[in-house]
Amino acid sequence: MAEMNVRYMGLNLPSPLIIGSSGLAKSVQAIKEFESNGAGAVVLKSLFEEQIAMDTDQNIKTALEDIFIYSEASENLDYIDYYTKNNLLSDYLKLIRDAKREVNIPIIASINCLTNGQWMYFAKKIEEAGADAIELNMASLPIDLRVESIEIEKLHLDILKKVKESVRIPVAVKIGPGYSNLALFIKRLSDSGADAVVLFNRFYSPDINIDTFAVASANAFSSPSEYYNSLRWIAIMHGKTESDLAASTGVHDSSAMIKQILAGAKVVEITSAVYKRGAEVISEILAQTQSWMQAKGFSSVDQFRGKISVYSNNVASFERIQFMKYFASVE
Ligand SMILES: Cc1cc2nc3c(=O)[nH]c(=O)nc-3n(C[C@H](O)[C@H](O)[C@H](O)COP(=O)(O)O)c2cc1C
Repeated sequence: MAEMNVRYMGLNLPSPLIIGSSGLAKSVQAIKEFESNGAGAVVLKSLFEEQIAMDTDQNIKTALEDIFIYSEASENLDYIDYYTKNNLLSDYLKLIRDAKREVNIPIIASINCLTNGQWMYFAKKIEEAGADAIELNMASLPIDLRVESIEIEKLHLDILKKVKESVRIPVAVKIGPGYSNLALFIKRLSDSGADAVVLFNRFYSPDINIDTFAVASANAFSSPSEYYNSLRWIAIMHGKTESDLAASTGVHDSSAMIKQILAGAKVVEITSAVYKRGAEVISEILAQTQSWMQAKGFSSVDQFRGKISVYSNNVASFERIQFMKYFASVE
C-alpha cells in the first residue's frame, strides 16, 4: 500500500488532504468524522476580527440604550468590549482544547484581522489553547483609492512578522490571487517567515438578479473547473520558496489532488466538495489517489511531488497566458 503521510509546516499529517477553513470543522464530532475518513488535518473557521468588532459595537449600542448600564459607569462599556471579545474567542478556544483532547490530526486555527494590532492577541490565545498551527486568512478587498498597493503588501507582511514573533507554532498565510506581482509577494511572505502559503482563498462574490434587480450571492461553492489558477501558481512557485505550498480551490476529485501535488503542493485543502458530498469524499479521493500511485509505481507522496513544475522540468506552459499558438491551430 502506498504511504500517504506527509510533513506540512513541520507537522506530521497522515495524508495530504486537509479540510479547508469553513464551518465544516465546527464541532469535535465533525472533526472526528474527518479524521476517520483520512483527513490529514483540519483548518477551523476563521475567527474574524471584523465579526468580533461588529458584535462588540452591537453590545455597546444596546448598552447605550439601557439607562441602567449606561448611568452606572462608563467603564461598563470597556467591560462589554472585553466580554464580547473574550466570549466569542472563548468558544473558539474551547473547540481547540476539546478537539486536541479527542483527535490526533493537527488542528489548524484560522484568523482574519483587519488591523495590525489584534492579530497577536488572537494568535497567542490560540497557541495557548493547544492549536498545532495558525493559518492567517489575509482576505481583503482593497478599494481605497488613496492606498498604494505596496502599502497593502507591507501591512500584510508586517502582520505576518508580528505573529511570527509572538507564537512558536507554525504560521501559514492564505491569500487571494489579487496581487500585482504575485510571485514576488509569495517569495516575500516566505522570506518573512511564513511556514506555508495557501493558494488561494475563494472569496464571496455578489451577483445581480436581472428579474428582481436584487443583489444576490453567487455560488458559495466552487466547481471542479476552478483549480487551474491555483495549479498554475503552485507549479510556478514550487522550489522557489522556503515555505510549503498548499493548494486550495476547486479540488473535488483525486485527479485534481494528484495534479496539485505533481505541480508541487505539499497539501491540498478541500472545502466545497465536502459541503456537497459529505466526509466520505475524503476517503474516496484518498483511495483513488492510492490506486493511481500504485499503478504509477509511487510508494510515497514525496516521490511525485513537484514532478511537473516550472522548477523541476521547466514546464513553460504554466508561465504562458496567451492562446496565440492554440488559436493558430484552430480553424
Ligand atoms: C461556507 C464557506 C465558508 C468559508 N469560510 C472560510 C473562512 O472562515 N476562512 C477562510 O480562510 N476561508 C473560508 N472559506 C474558503 C475555503 O476555505 C476555501 O478556500 C474555498 O472554498 C475554496 O476551496 P474549495 O474549492 O475546496 O471550496 C469558506 C468557504 C465556504 C464555502
